[in-house]
Amino acid sequence: MALIKEIDYGTPIRLSEKTVTLSIDGQSVTVPAGTSVMAAAMSLGTKIPKLCATDSLEPFGSCRLCLVEIEGRRGTPASCTTPAEDGMVVRTQSENLSGLRKGVMELYISDHPLDCLTCSANGDCELQDMAGAVGLREVRYGYEGENHVFAKTADGLANENWLAKDTSNPYFTYDPSKCIVCNRCVRACEEVQGTFALTIAGRGFDSRVAAGPTDFLGSECVSCGACVQACPTATLMENKVIEHGQPEHSKVTTCAYCGVGCSFKAEMQGDRVIRMVPYKDGKANEGHSCVKGRFAWGYANHRDRMTKPMIRARITDPWREVSWEEAISHAASEFKRIQARYGRESVGAITSSRCTNEEVFLVQKLVRAAFRNNNVDTCARVCHSPTGYGLKTTLGTSAGTQDFKSVAKADVILIIGANPTDGHPVFASRMKKRIREGARLIVADPRRIDMVKSPHIKADYHLPLRPGTNVALLNALGHVVVTEGLIDESYVRERCDLDAFEQWARFVAREENSPEASEQYTGVPAADVRAAARLYATGGNGAIYYGLGVTEHSQGSTTVMAMANLAMATGNIGRDGVGINPLRGQNNVQGSCDMGSFPHEFSGYRHVADDSTRQVFEMMWGVPLDPEQGLRITNMLDEAVDGTFKGLYVQGEDIAQSDPNTKHVTAGLAAMECVVIQDIFLNETAKYAHVFLPGASFLEKDGTFTNAERRINRVRQVMAPLSGKDEWQVTIELARALGYEMSYAHPGEIMDEIARLTPSFAGVSYDKLEKLGSVQWPCNEKAPTGTPLMHVDRFVRGKGQFMITEFIATDERTGPRFPLLLTTGRILSQYNVGAQTRRTENGAWHDEDVLEIHPFDAESRGIRDGDLVSLASRSGDIALRAEISERMQPGVVYTTFHHAKTGANVITTDYSDWATNCPEYKVTAVEVRRTNHYSQWQEKNFEEDVTLRRIAERLPDAAE
Ligand code: SF4
Ligand code: SF4
Ligand code: SF4
Ligand code: FES
Repeated sequence: MALIKEIDYGTPIRLSEKTVTLSIDGQSVTVPAGTSVMAAAMSLGTKIPKLCATDSLEPFGSCRLCLVEIEGRRGTPASCTTPAEDGMVVRTQSENLSGLRKGVMELYISDHPLDCLTCSANGDCELQDMAGAVGLREVRYGYEGENHVFAKTADGLANENWLAKDTSNPYFTYDPSKCIVCNRCVRACEEVQGTFALTIAGRGFDSRVAAGPTDFLGSECVSCGACVQACPTATLMENKVIEHGQPEHSKVTTCAYCGVGCSFKAEMQGDRVIRMVPYKDGKANEGHSCVKGRFAWGYANHRDRMTKPMIRARITDPWREVSWEEAISHAASEFKRIQARYGRESVGAITSSRCTNEEVFLVQKLVRAAFRNNNVDTCARVCHSPTGYGLKTTLGTSAGTQDFKSVAKADVILIIGANPTDGHPVFASRMKKRIREGARLIVADPRRIDMVKSPHIKADYHLPLRPGTNVALLNALGHVVVTEGLIDESYVRERCDLDAFEQWARFVAREENSPEASEQYTGVPAADVRAAARLYATGGNGAIYYGLGVTEHSQGSTTVMAMANLAMATGNIGRDGVGINPLRGQNNVQGSCDMGSFPHEFSGYRHVADDSTRQVFEMMWGVPLDPEQGLRITNMLDEAVDGTFKGLYVQGEDIAQSDPNTKHVTAGLAAMECVVIQDIFLNETAKYAHVFLPGASFLEKDGTFTNAERRINRVRQVMAPLSGKDEWQVTIELARALGYEMSYAHPGEIMDEIARLTPSFAGVSYDKLEKLGSVQWPCNEKAPTGTPLMHVDRFVRGKGQFMITEFIATDERTGPRFPLLLTTGRILSQYNVGAQTRRTENGAWHDEDVLEIHPFDAESRGIRDGDLVSLASRSGDIALRAEISERMQPGVVYTTFHHAKTGANVITTDYSDWATNCPEYKVTAVEVRRTNHYSQWQEKNFEEDVTLRRIAERLPDAAE
């Protein structure tokens, strides 16, 4: 196995339909118009020497190494900045060119440390390669004069001290002595990432790369790694490479964090991962990354990793390490005992969006075929279940409509309840690029998120609505569209159910839905709502992107349908640049829903009550299946508290931390007789477990993840599972121990079964994924290479279905006791409940959850920045530090839930979406006061954490 090296064309691939034909070194080549001479040459396999060019960046033309000769043109133009033209005759090699290139390289090398043999980039350095490529054999100039290698003395001359390195970033080092000032890092930060953290400070000879006022950590840098990726030398280098040396071989796999689903090359030495390099051919990320996928994978080998199965009779007992056989047979006999005593319905399972499609499919199969009930639910319940309901009802399928690259064709982008720069950073970079090119932007969010204003980005309208009023706002936008005659009538006539449209149009046109009337609920000035509606409806391609700020409400499903109404009414579904796009939370939320892990649906969103569908599964699985829908997570916990639900298998989820109203969740867990946890760490839920089955991190998994654009990506096993078993094998063994036979030799065989049973996956196989890299479902006979855009000629359900979306205010109200509204979210460097990111160096950016509060609310309570404050709701109270922030609006406070010790979900309530039970995380009435102590719950939890840590440390082979 070798390192995977992608071709670098030097300048970006152009996609024009017009082509030009030219001759390069006597060979004819035809390329899309706009292609550079350098890229045209590379498409013939001719590598023109280069330093400042790379194909992720627009050409810059500063190094003068890529000179060529062109017949009929004077001089030696730079091939990176010269577009190929019809009839051009280009020479890339001549005595003259050779002499010029040597001269350029001699100057570079004379100002560069000659320590190649001990340099971290040795073997992977473009400067070294170019010196070889141009045949440089001697350098006539020394270091005596001014140079960029050594620091200057007071008299301005170089001394013997190397320039100081910047080691402030925990993952990479900046060594200025190796910098050739090619500007690639600065351009990567601007063009690819869109953060503008770097600059070239100084002029002429004194030009230097500079990050912010102090260093990388103190700058605006978000540690995405694009500059490190772009740097041709060892100037910006991953610390792991500095420490361990260059990797030897690599495998392409998929990030385990968010729903963008970025592809990475895991670059290794033996079985040690040295670095994760974003993969250019990865269609979701096209070579870009964020700090989590690029750098925060060290948790896979963290000393807290659990690698041995354990059991205990009571949750107060110490854990006892046992063999796999004993753990599995104990779990199976407990489930059988419970079912014999309390009935078939008394057990169930929860699948995880961190697991592969194949793992999730097997767990839901185990529930239906071995438990013989439908008590299976997924963590998508608490994030995007309203997306499934809302989009299926209106459009006919439970998924987003576009591929990510569609945003490059959007003219107006409407972001609702999403914070892409923190939650979906690689997609945010695509979005920001399109906005810098001129797309208009509307942001509907209670907070002034970064997309409202950041370098070279400014929203045309920020609609700072009060939490819980999404439906009122969307109805008001719809009202303007209808009453101001902005409907796309021909689209609606041709594509949508007209009766439903007319009912909806009459409904939103009612005065109570006008921007002026709804201002009392939303708090958004009516004039802004009117202007935003006009812009979305008439500004060209209008694309909606949304997140959990839409779904995690008591009217989450209604909001999704209200967005669909708006998009259909304005003709904004069914082509590039438009659509309704959920930004999915976890890496495989889409997949875990697709795989049938809801209690009412088989894979492909088909109801368990549908006889013909059930018969297909019964034939394939060889058992009769239950036609009654099963229990949702919330029902399981309620019934556990009531004493009728007694056994739970949880794969890869930490419901004690992630689900709302922690006290209720833990009461439910504590009431069960057998809780089986399969995870890589002893998480919060494991405190209530009787059996612990060690899981596998994404680096140990083999399978597929499906991202937010329905793209099925391969996850490849980079290292053997630390526990000795794949998770899918464990599920098979548990099913067998329960008396139901399952047999697969490889996850590819599980995918074959998924394809046989699921129409939208009918054409998916590992062979196809090997050939195409990835496919977007539906992938079947009609669409053998997948479906980037949905609903192109007609909606999946036939006619688009407008739905009446009446605004019903949540029961969670502010009042004298709890006068503020709390809303929750994520931060870039941490992820979900933090189980992974807290075990990396990402704590450098965010080592505790804080409470953002507006200066007005802080001042009226005597709260200063950094004070410990108590945050109380009717569910409970916690304490955390206050951060005074003008991003907040008065009356609204905000926190994240990444740290178990904070216990943010102790205070969230058990209100939930009327259709799907998705919890209302985004609206909790609270009061904030200064305090000098943590809450009782936190104190108890700190205590238990210490105990858990001791257990983990006592185990002999908790991996280093
Ligand atoms: S790591 Fe990313 S954000 Fe930071 S300086 Fe480099 S390109 Fe910019
Ligand atoms: S740090 Fe690297 S990419 Fe940036 S200017 Fe220096 S050599 Fe070029
Ligand atoms: S954007 Fe999401 S999928 Fe991509 S690297 Fe970051 S966390 Fe991973
Ligand atoms: S690669 Fe063309 S000028 Fe540097």
